[in-house]
Amino acid sequence: MVKICCIGAGYVGGPTMAMIALKCPNIEVVVVDISKPRIAAWNSDELPIYEPGLDEVVKACREKNLFFSTDVEKHVAEADIVFVSVNTPTKTRGLGAGKAADLTYWESAARMIADVSKSDKIVVEKSTVPVKTAEAIEKILTHNNKGINFQILSNPEFLAEGTAIEDLAKPDRVLIGGRETPGGQKAVEALKAVYAHWVPEDRILTTNLWSAELSKLAANAFLAQRISSINAMSALCESTGADVSEVAYAVGKDSRIGPKFLNASVGFGGSCFQKDILNLVYICECNGLTEVAHYWKQVVQINDYQKTRFVKRVVSSMFNTVSGKKIAILGFAFKKDTGDTRETPAIDVCHGLLGDKALLSIYDPQVTEDQIKRDLAMNKFDWDHPLHLQPQSPTAFKQVSVVWDAYEATKDAHGVCIITEWDEFKKLDYQRIYDNMQKPAFIFDGRNVLNVEALRKIGFVVYSIGKPLDPWVKDLQVSI
Ligand code: UDX
Ligand code: UDX
Ligand code: ADP
Repeated sequence: MVKICCIGAGYVGGPTMAMIALKCPNIEVVVVDISKPRIAAWNSDELPIYEPGLDEVVKACREKNLFFSTDVEKHVAEADIVFVSVNTPTKTRGLGAGKAADLTYWESAARMIADVSKSDKIVVEKSTVPVKTAEAIEKILTHNNKGINFQILSNPEFLAEGTAIEDLAKPDRVLIGGRETPGGQKAVEALKAVYAHWVPEDRILTTNLWSAELSKLAANAFLAQRISSINAMSALCESTGADVSEVAYAVGKDSRIGPKFLNASVGFGGSCFQKDILNLVYICECNGLTEVAHYWKQVVQINDYQKTRFVKRVVSSMFNTVSGKKIAILGFAFKKDTGDTRETPAIDVCHGLLGDKALLSIYDPQVTEDQIKRDLAMNKFDWDHPLHLQPQSPTAFKQVSVVWDAYEATKDAHGVCIITEWDEFKKLDYQRIYDNMQKPAFIFDGRNVLNVEALRKIGFVVYSIGKPLDPWVKDLQVSI
């Protein structure tokens, strides 16, 4: 029986290994992590991450061929294939601070693998890492040579949160990069055989190590670039009276462009896009490619601009002051169907409004009060660092309350901001919400999920990203 061990039971490691276990009953999969609470949660009825369909997959395999353990060294020593899916946070100090990936966790995982191994192993990079990481890892692994053969592969994960199970079950492609040596190719074939249990062969792409590492950064940069492109257009739409949804539809009909990932929004979030682009920018800079670095940096800058622009719209529409006004924030997760708040645009929007002394009442169906307060207290990039660096007991925010109901959040509010596109926000009784709000009642739809005309009929003053402006909003705008 082939044994797989995955170091890191996070958003990537957990679901990916669960899918491998489900599709390969003849393989034993152990997911290990240094975090005891995380492993305890994976072994309980309350999994540590919310992902549609994940519960069923985990329950079908757990204790059969899928195990979660904190006994990292034992399981690494026993495995034939070791996936490494540990955090690679953005550095917050030192060289490359604010851009470069911090490989501390990766390095310590690699050193541990080298120390405990007694048999040949394939070590697979699963977390997104800077190009050429494999080379560094290879050096660490082979340095303590005890006659053990290590083969390094890069197998970046392309799953998106909220659709992880679907993406894993039917991936657009699986990418495996390896050394072009006989040993490297043998390792590639061994990993290919794992995925071939359920992924059609023509979807399993094999490349050299560096192409695989760079493809992951490139794919995320391209996806984020589409969002920044449509968001840049949304600003122009608002100025010209065009409708960004109509523009996106017309543009997306061109088969060379395609319709996906063209939804204008308050900004992209998530653990990957910004981080990976900043990392790409850093790699370009290190290679003397200033213009290329500058090109990709713009994608992040437009994203920051879009979040700031949203806050400015809110403040200027409400007579240039939100001081002491209650504003409901509907949605805090970085997108729907996840409880993940990493780099969510909600954090920047809330900070912007709090800076103008608004009173926020926040509701998200999947994010706890503790998490929201911790996020609002955290410094940029701290979310990916160990828990002891993060604020443990969130400082009391007098201006923030977190509630468990959209009607409660909007009661007596002056304005409502939709930050996450949760389906339930489309189905709310907006007449009831309007009746219970201060007048004039404002709605700022950061996700274009609401029916603007219907809301205007009720009496709301409505702003929706990239849509023709409400005459009211237009008259009150300062320069955006
Ligand atoms: C373009 C648009 O495609 C068309 O829809 C619009 O109506 C007019 O402008 P055109 O300029 O005729 O059409 O040619 P196109 O095939 O788009 O190529 C434009 C340039 O891009 C060419 O120099 C081409 O060589 C280059 N190109 C295209 C690349 O360098 N790489 C590519 O992948 C595609
Ligand atoms: C992304 C990539 O899609 C995935 O392939 C990679 O493995 C990890 O990073 P994820 O961050 O989970 O996945 O979510 P994604 O669906 O890509 O959304 C990222 C952000 O972009 C979200 O905040 C989302 O709301 C936003 N978005 C997405 C838009 O604003 N408009 C769109 O059209 C699409
Ligand atoms: P991702 O989104 O890439 O999956 P996460 O931050 O969700 O990243 O998960 C990474 C996991 O890796 C965390 O649970 C962390 O505790 C774990 N981890 C980090 N370093 C090690 C290590 N040396 N050994 C075992 N687990 C580790």
